[in-house]
Amino acid sequence: MKLKLLFAAVLMSMAMQGQVRREINLETWEFSRDGQTWAAVNIPHDWAIAGPFDKRWDLQRVAITQNGETEATEKSGRSGALPWIGEGWYRTTVEVPQGYQCAQLVFDGAMAEPRVYVNGQEAGYWAYGYNAFRVDITPFLTRQPTSLTSELDISVHLQNQEESSRWYPGAGLYRPVTLVLMQKAHIDDWSVFARTMSIDGEQAVVEVEARVVNPSKGTAQIFLKGPDGRTASSGDTRIEADGKVYAKFAVKNPQLWSPETPNLYQVKVEVYQGHHEVLDSKTIKTGIRTVRVDREHGFQLNGVTRKLKGVCLHHDLGPLGAAINRTALIRQIRMLKEMGCDAIRTAHNMPSTWQMEVCDSMGMMVMAESFDMWLYPKCKNGYARFFRDWAQKDITNLVLNHRNHPSIVMWSIGNEIPEQWSEEGRQISIQLQGLCHALDPTRPVTQGMDRAEDALKSGFAQAMDVPGFNYRVHKYENNLRQLPQGFLLGSETASTVSSRGVYKFPVTPTDNSQFASYSPNYDPRALLTADGQCSSYDVEWCPWSNLPDDDWRWQDDYPWVIGEFVWTGYDYLGEPTPYDEYWPSRSSYFGIMDLAGLPKDRYWLYRSKWNTSEHTVHLLPHWTWPNRKGEVTPVYCYTDGVEGELFVNGKSQGRVRKNPSERLDRYRLRWNNVKYEPGEIRVVCYDDKGNKIGDDVRRTAGKAYALRAEAETDSHQADGEDLIFVRVSVTDRQGVDVPTCQDALTFQVSGEARFEAVCNGDATSLESFRQPRMKLFNGQLVVVLRPTTTAGTATLTVRDQRGHLKSAVLTIATH
Ligand code: GAL
Repeated sequence: MKLKLLFAAVLMSMAMQGQVRREINLETWEFSRDGQTWAAVNIPHDWAIAGPFDKRWDLQRVAITQNGETEATEKSGRSGALPWIGEGWYRTTVEVPQGYQCAQLVFDGAMAEPRVYVNGQEAGYWAYGYNAFRVDITPFLTRQPTSLTSELDISVHLQNQEESSRWYPGAGLYRPVTLVLMQKAHIDDWSVFARTMSIDGEQAVVEVEARVVNPSKGTAQIFLKGPDGRTASSGDTRIEADGKVYAKFAVKNPQLWSPETPNLYQVKVEVYQGHHEVLDSKTIKTGIRTVRVDREHGFQLNGVTRKLKGVCLHHDLGPLGAAINRTALIRQIRMLKEMGCDAIRTAHNMPSTWQMEVCDSMGMMVMAESFDMWLYPKCKNGYARFFRDWAQKDITNLVLNHRNHPSIVMWSIGNEIPEQWSEEGRQISIQLQGLCHALDPTRPVTQGMDRAEDALKSGFAQAMDVPGFNYRVHKYENNLRQLPQGFLLGSETASTVSSRGVYKFPVTPTDNSQFASYSPNYDPRALLTADGQCSSYDVEWCPWSNLPDDDWRWQDDYPWVIGEFVWTGYDYLGEPTPYDEYWPSRSSYFGIMDLAGLPKDRYWLYRSKWNTSEHTVHLLPHWTWPNRKGEVTPVYCYTDGVEGELFVNGKSQGRVRKNPSERLDRYRLRWNNVKYEPGEIRVVCYDDKGNKIGDDVRRTAGKAYALRAEAETDSHQADGEDLIFVRVSVTDRQGVDVPTCQDALTFQVSGEARFEAVCNGDATSLESFRQPRMKLFNGQLVVVLRPTTTAGTATLTVRDQRGHLKSAVLTIATH
């Protein structure tokens, strides 16, 4: 016991001398577009998100071949119509205290083609803007004999090419940069690898390995700490000649990681010299869990079969752009979890470390993706420029950087790779998958294929651990027959499009091929009369895609479909299909939630199917239609119940029961012939035993009267990094939401927060996200505030520009 205390004292004193590693998050930088004028910025930073929107930025005249186009046309909003093209510079100065012999810069991603300079000399370069990379800057740690510190001038040059992306990539140091200071002998961060070898009844076996760089004669120790605080130690462990250290733990009654129980363990690796003098110490978080896929049991987490209820996400955070923020990431995952979603796919690139940490701790499975193209470009200046030289390095960094995250359950080596049909493509698949296996034998590897016949003919699909198919559910059965794996994944599904709060009449389930110039249904007049919006009756899909209901039929009827990743959880900047050729559309319509993060009706459709712990009863459309008196206005209800009765102003419209043999009646309740009359619609829903499970009401709103502002969460940190998301809406005198109000608003913030951004979810809006004014879109928008670093109160005042509405004043405490 005494000895232990003595050791603890030695460790503490060493740590206080600053001998063990230090990891410094480099937050404050200066930024310049031209190398002449500089502005102070905090990173994560996206230089393009403030706009202005303009169709000239990255105006692409192209044929989108994966959508079946053969002739080039103008695609104005394809990459977001924001000024992300061109060069950018960042610079900062860091004082490095004495006592460190090695230093490394860790970039979690930098958009794009980052070139890193230290004290005026080039120190490193990475090609792909989405990947994490490390730059060894040890040679720059020279110091003046008289000085106790050495000063590092760090600058980063970034370069974004036009036509390099199919969506908005963002621009700048949009993810964190960390300076790591270490001793000569230190742990290679990315060598630490903790994995669950087995879970057997009451016991799990966990193996941990790591590598010491420049190993001296010392020893190492590895600790495994459970969520209950109990710690197991490897005891003194030999450092092999090549620096490897290893430990094996038998964990009794392990607290397993799953989306429902996101239990995390800590692994600490410590390297000593002499008598337990700590040279380096690295702690990572991980989870105990297993992942398996096979023909008999499909996808299994901890030995239990489950179907992936996943969504694809692009990396942008709507009005915050690509600049990542923990609170915004947490908000995304929280709302997805409430919907019953248990997995995300990081389409089509490497995730950020913060996002994976959020998924670990909140319980969200992840398919971590890498590439949208290999050798054949999908856009002129895309990653195909780099693939040959960089693919192996990129996969290596993806896997090494992220393999301890329990949330990641599979790697994806590509999305809709054009070379699916070829032997060359098959060979590359085998190589990249093999590389993933070599670096991480614990996870299966997949990719999303859109040309099923080609990929099956070439053997591309058969080569994968998990064959993933994008859309075309009607081909699933034929695909399966040719797959030795015996199962398949809907790696990308639905691509149903809708705009929050927009309802179009008559309600006609249809693909939107009237807008697709290559389609036989193309109608050149359609774009001329278009409004840039899609109907929220959730009956519009793309020529290559389908409705949520179609995917569920396959998942419910066929055990060999192991789940899906819906395109997409949230709207994202760029790719405004079906309005690729319509200006001013500049963001997507695919989201289950809009660009502001507000749920569309589809949110409740997915919730009704995916959230099995709470009931869902959701009515649509809204019931404020002054011009539709007496007109047929269909009413839909999204519910987990099997039957519902609809009342219009108290008059029953009959009971409707779900009907498994009808495409749109298996998962929704529909009353297709309701005539609109102002007042109220109410639905009452029942389960299969006839028990009432809930009801929902929509009321006709009167004139807009008052603005309302409500914070989504009630605890806010005064740390300068937290964000406060405020939902703004408008009501009539009776407090009924006015779903048609499009009034222009202004936002004034005082006290301990500042205005950060605003978004209304309208894909055709050209108002800046960074100015404190914006129009409501169908009665709603979201304002984002950033607390200062001083605890206190902040006040947001929302006014309408015409001065007709009662203002909303929201006071928020920060701690
Ligand atoms: C897929 C593609 C996605 C997105 C989607 C739109 O083919 O993988 O990136 O473009 O279509 O439906």
